Amino acid sequence: MKTNFALVPKLLGADPRLAAKLARSFASQKKSMRIDHRFYGGRTHELGLLYFRLTPLCNLRCVMCGQRGDKGVLKGSFAAEEAKKIVPLETYKRLVDEIKHKSPTIYLWGGEPFLYPELFPLVDYMKDAGLVVSVNTNGTLLAKNAEEIVRRKWHAIFVSLDGFEETNDRIRGEGSYRRVVEGFEAINREKKRQGSHLPHMGIVSTVNNLNYKDLYRLAEAAQGFGLSWHIFNLGTYTNEAIVERQRSFMRERLDTEIGCLQAYDTGYNAGIDGLQLHDILTRIHAMETDHPIITVPALNPDKINTYYSELEIPVRTHCSVPWSQANIDYDGGVHFCADYPDYKLGNIKDQGFFEIFNGERARRFRNELKGSPDGIFPGCVRCYQNMLCGKKVKGF
Ligand SMILES: C[S@@+](CC[C@H](N)C(=O)[O-])C[C@H]1O[C@@H](n2cnc3c(N)ncnc32)[C@H](O)[C@@H]1O
Ligand code: SF4
Ligand code: SF4
Repeated sequence: MKTNFALVPKLLGADPRLAAKLARSFASQKKSMRIDHRFYGGRTHELGLLYFRLTPLCNLRCVMCGQRGDKGVLKGSFAAEEAKKIVPLETYKRLVDEIKHKSPTIYLWGGEPFLYPELFPLVDYMKDAGLVVSVNTNGTLLAKNAEEIVRRKWHAIFVSLDGFEETNDRIRGEGSYRRVVEGFEAINREKKRQGSHLPHMGIVSTVNNLNYKDLYRLAEAAQGFGLSWHIFNLGTYTNEAIVERQRSFMRERLDTEIGCLQAYDTGYNAGIDGLQLHDILTRIHAMETDHPIITVPALNPDKINTYYSELEIPVRTHCSVPWSQANIDYDGGVHFCADYPDYKLGNIKDQGFFEIFNGERARRFRNELKGSPDGIFPGCVRCYQNMLCGKKVKGF
């Protein structure tokens, strides 16, 4: 099984300039660990990847979602109130002007990014600044926007699909599978009509106990979608004991009250048969596909049960995220941890990005992380960002 780096050679063939920029982003992340992590006392000179959670709003309510799922709180009138805080386009433009010389890869997500009212002008501005821009979407609004996406030559779209039709709709809502497939069809039609190879499109599937037995059927169906990749994300899970350990740690060491991690205590990891899942993923990886299949994190067969049933055991350690990545939240808050935005570094509405990224709070967080056992905090054990770039634990 392969990790995300498998994407680069695939893109090299189709799009060498895009691939070269992506490779620079990965290199920047590696360099930050080789040099900045070791020598600069909590400062960093690298910026390889910048996430933007553009909006708290979404048109779906997927059961396992840490924001809007069974345990998520970003719903109803609270989400509507929060949406009043979204960052205006002009503030994002100022940020892009400030960071563009570092050429970070951009990852736009949400909520649902298509509900950010200035999405198209924002992507244009980022692309014109020379940045590689990817958009993570639930795909239900792709068909409606297909002509414009292709005309504006978006680089990459990550679309969430969690199973074949019935399974996906049980998780992501009635009719959502069909709408995503219509979205892929519309984009492919527009690419042909406009004579463009952009955007590259891929699926992200989040594994849980409702869908794992159905992933092969989805992978088969996906053969016809014109994809550049299919990522299987083993999913973010936690339990009460981990949440309590993280709560104490963050209170004592970083004066922070946590409120996000508990939303991942969903129970959708329960009962997953790791060996059966491994067998399914192996069959998927063995398929003759026209696109790479990527599992994050790739684990040894006998360790998949550990991933789902012994949540406190780390499979990746030594988080490198704060040395080369940040997430800009919908209200302008800057955080290292995209899924757990409790420890705030500052706000781009009030300060310049680099003032925040190397400010006192950022350095304090980095120094705590570096000094922690295995270079992670108690709540980091299934963090998706660390699954992408953390250090593989021996045997896993
Ligand atoms: C929160 S969504 C935001 C973007 C967009 N709304 C979407 O669904 O693609 C980002 C990604 O997180 C995934 N996700 C949701 N809940 C998750 C969980 N508990 N563990 C891991 N990934 C999850 C989604 O499936 C999606 O691929
Ligand atoms: S579409 Fe994305 S943000 Fe919306 S509920 Fe589903 S996973 Fe969460
Ligand atoms: S591993 Fe921990 S510190 Fe690193 S990004 Fe994830 S939650 Fe944050």
